[in-house]
Amino acid sequence: MRKKIVAGNWKMNGTQEEGQKLTSEIVNMVKDERISDVTVVLNPPFVHASNVKKLIGGVDNIFLGGQNCSDKASGAYTGETSASILASFGATYVIIGHSERREYFAESNEQLTEKVKLALENGLTPIFCCGEPLEIREAGTHEAYVKDQLTESLFGLSEEDFAKIVIAYEPIWAIGTGKTASSDQAQEMHAAIRAHLASKYGEKIAEGTSILYGGSCKPDNAPEIFSKPDVDGGLIGGASLKSRDFVDIIKSF
Ligand code: G3H
Repeated sequence: MRKKIVAGNWKMNGTQEEGQKLTSEIVNMVKDERISDVTVVLNPPFVHASNVKKLIGGVDNIFLGGQNCSDKASGAYTGETSASILASFGATYVIIGHSERREYFAESNEQLTEKVKLALENGLTPIFCCGEPLEIREAGTHEAYVKDQLTESLFGLSEEDFAKIVIAYEPIWAIGTGKTASSDQAQEMHAAIRAHLASKYGEKIAEGTSILYGGSCKPDNAPEIFSKPDVDGGLIGGASLKSRDFVDIIKSF
């Protein structure tokens, strides 16, 4: 059985007070509503790490993650946060290769490989993002585009390392736009991704890899998207900033 995962990506949102309130509300709802069969990951801006870690303490299925990590292990890289620093604050997940990082910070596939390696070396589970822009979808080459992203960044990993990765498929045209992929479009891509993983790492590893959907996922569309056989959860942006919406999405399986 693959892990069901719902990860909240707060992006660059939330004061200290807002972050604490949001985390406390999510923790209380997950406990009160006895949600134990879904892995919940909170990915706040780095400076929230200690607060969030403290507040989720004692809830077995809620974890701290980072939104990014450096492709360098340590040193004179002002403004960067390494995988080892993140792990030392109690994080166990890290989002790598989000389309916003690829686009606004020009992160290359090669850099993403380094980030994935450092994350794994430091015991973090990478949530590796892939997904196509609108023009690629319209040209009908989205499958090839996403397969190339995965091949170029991940297919140098050993089987043992690859088996620790979580994939997030996020069509860029659906991120923050209110225009979600249909559940059939999501299923089609998730199945294609899984087949691609199987072609390199075999059926067993591909079947065991959680593949999350991201892009305008909300409480009203999550149940249908999550009902698809190759969709194992979501990477949630906007709706992860509202505790009730986020927890309703967690309960959508
Ligand atoms: O990381 C999350 C994704 O970019 C989705 O964001 O739910 O606001 O569309 P969104």
